Amino acid sequence: METRIAHIADGIYRISTVAEPYGISFNQFLIDDERPTLIHTGEHGSYENVRRAISEVLDPQRLANVVLLHWEGDENGGMDQFLADAPDAELVGSALSIQLNAHGFGVTERVRGFQDGETLDLGRHTLRFLETPHVHHWDSMMVFEESTQSLFPADLYLQPGDQPPVVTENLSEPMLEVYRAVGIFAHEDPVRAVVDRLEALDPAWVHAMHGGTLTREAVPAFNRALREHEFAYCGLLLGREVGAAAAA
Ligand SMILES: [Fe+2]
Ligand SMILES: [Fe+2]
Repeated sequence: METRIAHIADGIYRISTVAEPYGISFNQFLIDDERPTLIHTGEHGSYENVRRAISEVLDPQRLANVVLLHWEGDENGGMDQFLADAPDAELVGSALSIQLNAHGFGVTERVRGFQDGETLDLGRHTLRFLETPHVHHWDSMMVFEESTQSLFPADLYLQPGDQPPVVTENLSEPMLEVYRAVGIFAHEDPVRAVVDRLEALDPAWVHAMHGGTLTREAVPAFNRALREHEFAYCGLLLGREVGAAAAA
């Protein structure tokens, strides 16, 4: 399991590891700025690999923000370790995630929740927060970085396999197949409402958490697929039929 780091756009780096048995990459994003910021930590067990990749660019102890886009193992499983290592770092999440999850799990110091439209200045880069409930969790949000017009959409725009850092290909069909097989969205409607908002934003880069970063030209095919086809939960969780034993 090799962890690679690649520069994508003006101080934004993608750290990527393809994890078996899932057959998808797990990516974190590092923004190199006056206040260095990590978006997604990776799972608890991937801390050393992610930290090592960050240290190729900057001292991980300088991290100022550890951003989670929803409360889940691959999003913020490494937060304790990164926050312990970087004494000035704050945990950043949606207002709901911090109120409900961070506080509920006893993480009450150095935490900050953001509501829709609020911003965070990193120096040259500025993060703007979009609350996107039910895409795919109750507490989900996305981040738009204004100077590079970069969208961090978490699990939306996923592409399976070991993708290069930048993807221009239409991989929307494999995306939909993964969504149907793993069951991460309860319904299409909240996703499609967010797709409308994202289309109006017209990001230059879409930094998928699983797969490669999509260029502006690649995004419309993915949006079309999300509008025109079903991809919500259909009884499968990570490929396993739920309730099959009880029904038999
Ligand atoms: Fe997720
Ligand atoms: Fe994820």
